[in-house]
Amino acid sequence: MRPLSPFGQQLGVATGIGELMDDLGAALSNKSDDLCMLGGGQPAYIPKAAKLFQEHALNALASPEQLHSIMGEYDPAEGNQEFCQSFAEMMNESFGWEISAENVGISSGGQSACFHLFNALVGAGEHILIPLLPDYMGYRDQLVSGAQFLGIHGIPHRDANSFKYRLNLEAVQSAPDSTRLMALSRPTNPSGNVLSDEEVEALSDECLRRNIPLLIDHAYGAPFPNAVYVPTQNIWKPHHIHIYSLSKLGLPGSRTSIIVAAPDIIHLMRNMTAVTSLANPSLGQSIVLPLIQQRTLLPLCLETILPFYRQKRDHAISTLNRLLYDRVDYAIHAAEGAFFLWIWFPSLPITSRELTSILKKRGVLAISGHWFFFGSHDRPAHHDQCLRITYSMNPNVIEKGLQILADTILELHDENPSN
Ligand SMILES: Cc1ncc(COP(=O)(O)O)c(C=O)c1O
Repeated sequence: MRPLSPFGQQLGVATGIGELMDDLGAALSNKSDDLCMLGGGQPAYIPKAAKLFQEHALNALASPEQLHSIMGEYDPAEGNQEFCQSFAEMMNESFGWEISAENVGISSGGQSACFHLFNALVGAGEHILIPLLPDYMGYRDQLVSGAQFLGIHGIPHRDANSFKYRLNLEAVQSAPDSTRLMALSRPTNPSGNVLSDEEVEALSDECLRRNIPLLIDHAYGAPFPNAVYVPTQNIWKPHHIHIYSLSKLGLPGSRTSIIVAAPDIIHLMRNMTAVTSLANPSLGQSIVLPLIQQRTLLPLCLETILPFYRQKRDHAISTLNRLLYDRVDYAIHAAEGAFFLWIWFPSLPITSRELTSILKKRGVLAISGHWFFFGSHDRPAHHDQCLRITYSMNPNVIEKGLQILADTILELHDENPSN
């Protein structure tokens, strides 16, 4: 084994997110119908959105000169200034914000934005508070600065076959003074929870009291791609760091995220980009810029993308209820946003990790819930009883995958009647 630095030992090894991306790649390159990909957060093919992106991509690359201006020149490290300016204008006009291009920066995907910001803002002996676990497994292996996550469990409120995590605000308020950043995804990957405006306001006030930033990761959120099925507001405060991404709109290959934050944070990102990658990918910004300038991006999300995923969510929930209702003990988390069903099996006779390996052998990729609980020393049984499935795939894949899941769960319970 080649000797590695602590950095290499941290990032260059097998991780949960690495495993997920391997499975995703293998599943997407397998064109046969024998694999049901209910694993990663792959966005769906939405014809109307794809057509618009194609139109703008063709326009952007219509001549050799245009190709050169988009792909043949390095952008400034903070992002294309016309894009940042237009983005700020769209947010101001749509939500009454008062930001300028100085508050907007580009990074090559939300994953990379989080990696840089987490490590730059929080160091050894300090904490990043995740106010409601479970939250995005993609954060858990990112810390190389010596910082640690401190995760606070959401409190599950169950009602028959559904449940919802509630914020434990008291625990958040008692977090240690070593907390330097609070971070969350909204909607939450994996549970589909959407923290209410009141909950976000309480967390924002708590951050203000501590004089630390609140990082909100809107990968699936409002106003784009807007896979949000409950009313929410888009609130900007100078101590917020909002991270948006073009990925779940349908452009993950563009590797583009947009950060809205105080100018010093944008400057920090800019400097880190210059050192680690010089500049950011420019094609995604070129495709989406006309949609921003013509003010068609947000209507596309509201009128096409949101209803598309809501309908898929409804189909997945009704399929699962049809297969499991009255046959086994289960509860589905309130699916208020994102592309996931988060299913709790309180009497599961094996761990969710074992369940996902059985499912994989049977041709279904799903994600074990244990990955999404991190930064906590407590290991309640709940950690090993949850499963995340994605409903962005075709309905026949969802139905086949859920049927295999239900058969497996029922079989396991038959073999272990006490559970
Ligand atoms: C909650 C959340 N944040 C960030 C990301 C990273 O997305 P990207 O780097 O493609 O913008 C993902 C991807 O699945 C996600 O689910």
